[in-house]
Amino acid sequence: MRLSPGLLLLLLSGLQAVIQAEEVRAMVGSDVKLSCVYPGTDRFDLDDLFVYWQVSESNAVVTYYLPGNSSTGLEDSHYKNRAHLSLDSMQQGDFSLHLRNVTPQDEQKFNCLVFRKSLELGRILEAVVTLHVAANYSMPVVSTPSRPSAEQELTFTCVSTDGYPRPSVHWINKTDNSQLDKALHNDTVSLNQRGLYDVVSVLRVPWAPSVNVGCCIENALLHQNLTGTETFIGPEAMVTDSPVRPQQEGSAAVVSTLAILLVMVIVAVATGCLCRTRCPRRSYTGARFVQ
Ligand SMILES: *[C@@H]1O[C@H](CO)[C@@H](O)[C@H](O)[C@H]1NC(C)=O
Ligand SMILES: *[C@@H]1O[C@H](CO)[C@@H](O)[C@H](O)[C@H]1NC(C)=O
Ligand SMILES: *[C@@H]1O[C@H](CO)[C@@H](O)[C@H](O)[C@H]1NC(C)=O
Ligand SMILES: *[C@@H]1O[C@H](CO)[C@@H](O)[C@H](O)[C@H]1NC(C)=O
Ligand SMILES: *[C@@H]1O[C@H](CO)[C@@H](O)[C@H](O)[C@H]1NC(C)=O
Repeated sequence: MRLSPGLLLLLLSGLQAVIQAEEVRAMVGSDVKLSCVYPGTDRFDLDDLFVYWQVSESNAVVTYYLPGNSSTGLEDSHYKNRAHLSLDSMQQGDFSLHLRNVTPQDEQKFNCLVFRKSLELGRILEAVVTLHVAANYSMPVVSTPSRPSAEQELTFTCVSTDGYPRPSVHWINKTDNSQLDKALHNDTVSLNQRGLYDVVSVLRVPWAPSVNVGCCIENALLHQNLTGTETFIGPEAMVTDSPVRPQQEGSAAVVSTLAILLVMVIVAVATGCLCRTRCPRRSYTGARFVQ
């Protein structure tokens, strides 16, 4: 059988389907576009196209297009009404998937497969898109130890919720900004009803009159560290420590007052000198009027 050069070219391009790979990040609740675009400026006939989007691992159907717009309802219920293809864009070679209201379960690898009927269902395009899902943790809240007596351990509890992916927890000694030993804290990470992570971390440190710590929740995907801090001040430390702050704040005021006084003295001395040379007697007249 003889093939025209044009058809041969199409067949070859059909055999060597263009394969694309991409990684995308989306926030939970947002909309995302998973890209699957045929390179070049070819136009496509909708009656000639079969387009499938599926989850790589489970082969669950996300959405699809068949010529003639015939059957529907094969989509996985998880994606029903959330996944769309644009027919206008498809005619221009853009088979991208529009996914609305991203959930943590969408953290998957997706396959885009495009076939042409006219090429005996030859595959012309394949894309693999890895979707990474992220959600912002709530600001960590650290609670103070409840009235521990001296010589006991101090227990700090840190809570942060509704994040994704799984966090790393670090505790920081705010006195010297060093990281506290992992053995000092127990982290409990659990998935909540929304499919997001909640974390509770309990830190135990030896009793000290004053302990200032920070609980740092790291979201590696968002390159984000959220830190909540808490200071424990024991009763003994309170007696000696509480006047420190006002003193420090007060000392600045004292310095500026002294500076103003110094300037006034210099001005007074300078005026005094001038007066002594030019008007020796007048300086006392003012004082008498006031009295
Ligand atoms: C596909 O079918 C739906 C509903 O049956 C219709 O609204 C839509 O216009 C059709 N699209 C095409 C391209 O035939
Ligand atoms: C994440 O949450 C924290 C605390 O609620 C907030 O300060 C920060 O701006 C948020 N970041 C983003 C990217 O939403
Ligand atoms: C924090 O650092 C200070 C200074 O290095 C040290 O004295 C203190 O014991 C540390 N606190 C904890 C809880 O490790
Ligand atoms: C963490 O939990 C384990 C087991 O429940 C316990 O043995 C350990 O002492 C705990 N550590 C801290 C710092 O609470
Ligand atoms: C977050 O904190 C960890 C541990 O302290 C550090 O390794 C990481 O670089 C920090 N990330 C950012 C984005 O600041």
